[in-house]
Amino acid sequence: MKVLILGSGGREDAFAWKLSNESQIEKIYVSPGHDGMSRFEKVETIGSFSHEELRDFAKEKKIDLTIVGPETALTMGIVDLFIDSGLRIFGPSKKAAQLEGSKIFAKNFMKKYEIPTASFETYDNYKDAVAGLSNWPIEEKGIVIKADGLAGGKGVVVTHDRSEAEHTINDFMINPEISVKSDTILFENILPGDEVSVFALCKGLDSFYLGSACDHKRLGDNDTGPNTGGMGCFRDPSWPDLNLLNKIEERILKPTLQGCMAEGMSYNGFLFMGLMIDEKSDPYVVEYNVRLGDPETQTLLPLLDGSLGQFIYDFIDSGSADGLSLKDEASVHIVATSGGYPSLDDSPLDLGHSIDLGNVQDGIFLAGIKNDENGNGYLNSGGRVLGVTVSSSTVDEAREKAYRLMENIKFKGMHYRSDIARRKRGETNG
Ligand code: AMP
Ligand code: GLY
Repeated sequence: MKVLILGSGGREDAFAWKLSNESQIEKIYVSPGHDGMSRFEKVETIGSFSHEELRDFAKEKKIDLTIVGPETALTMGIVDLFIDSGLRIFGPSKKAAQLEGSKIFAKNFMKKYEIPTASFETYDNYKDAVAGLSNWPIEEKGIVIKADGLAGGKGVVVTHDRSEAEHTINDFMINPEISVKSDTILFENILPGDEVSVFALCKGLDSFYLGSACDHKRLGDNDTGPNTGGMGCFRDPSWPDLNLLNKIEERILKPTLQGCMAEGMSYNGFLFMGLMIDEKSDPYVVEYNVRLGDPETQTLLPLLDGSLGQFIYDFIDSGSADGLSLKDEASVHIVATSGGYPSLDDSPLDLGHSIDLGNVQDGIFLAGIKNDENGNGYLNSGGRVLGVTVSSSTVDEAREKAYRLMENIKFKGMHYRSDIARRKRGETNG
């Protein structure tokens, strides 16, 4: 089977690694990919192309399966384009991808189909948003403010401070110096509890539970500093337990797939349910993503037994497949970033430094790197540079081993958190 993977980060590196180890897979193309991916057998990176060019490439090379990493391609409708040409691609249609592409679309969908989520209000102009804010009990209950469209993790602010809330709506709706821009804005209640991301493969009303993971979004230890794409992640096999997974399936996954069907946007692809679990162990949706997560993918894929490529191929056709299972183990993934990341004000990152991998080969996923033209190794070329994943019988063991591995790796300006997978339930996420 020939596979095309779209994307260039650590998530796509993990896909390439997993598929390259599967005997069912003959060849893997990655677009755009990065310079490090050719370290895996059968993998060829092909650079950047338009969606139409990618479709033509897939036809010409007789690609059997295309897997989409990032959300943008999905919200722009790459799946519709490929399907119209009779190509097999795993991901939701443009319409269904709005579950991630528009937070307001997702909230209205959840309200209509009675899927538990925080209560909310929406505003489509600044004046009304200011008036709405003046009636919101911020000091007492806090508020979550969200820009409507995709914002690369920069479009959400959770606060108990009225002046911060006022600044945020000005930033999101008016301030030309802030990259997040939205004509529509969402206010919602803060959901208390523990955050967990749950992943399923879906086709119509059929689904397969892939696994769960908890990520760390803030840049610094103890959940301090700015939000990032994710600084690390862990999977604890003991939580969510079966009882909670059952609630998630009955109250969230099934009604979501039924709602999609009823809206004429039957859901195919990975579904990422970002959830908050309250003290009664009841799940609420914080957000949907219509793809796998980064770094959640790097945390979960090493725990999968069986061929992911074959499983997806069979599943797309029939909504059922076998031969894939998640090991009953813990895993921990730690991300290393470049100096200056996440650069919310778009100031330049500290790039171009030689990366000493210290002979680490297994368990490392590369992301923001490129070949050093003057040497044999890599230079850092992006915000999130690489990550290491270790699995073990307990989270504590996996964390210790992952940190030991990371200590071998060095580059100028390198930063990683020292408390990944230390969060206990009942502590807030960040
Ligand atoms: P989102 O982009 O919607 O996932 O939001 C980013 C992060 O903000 C989430 O992962 C949560 O940690 C936090 N967040 C978003 N909405 C809420 C909410 N209603 N209550 C508490 N935290 C939230
Ligand atoms: N780690 C969160 C995401 O991929 O959206």
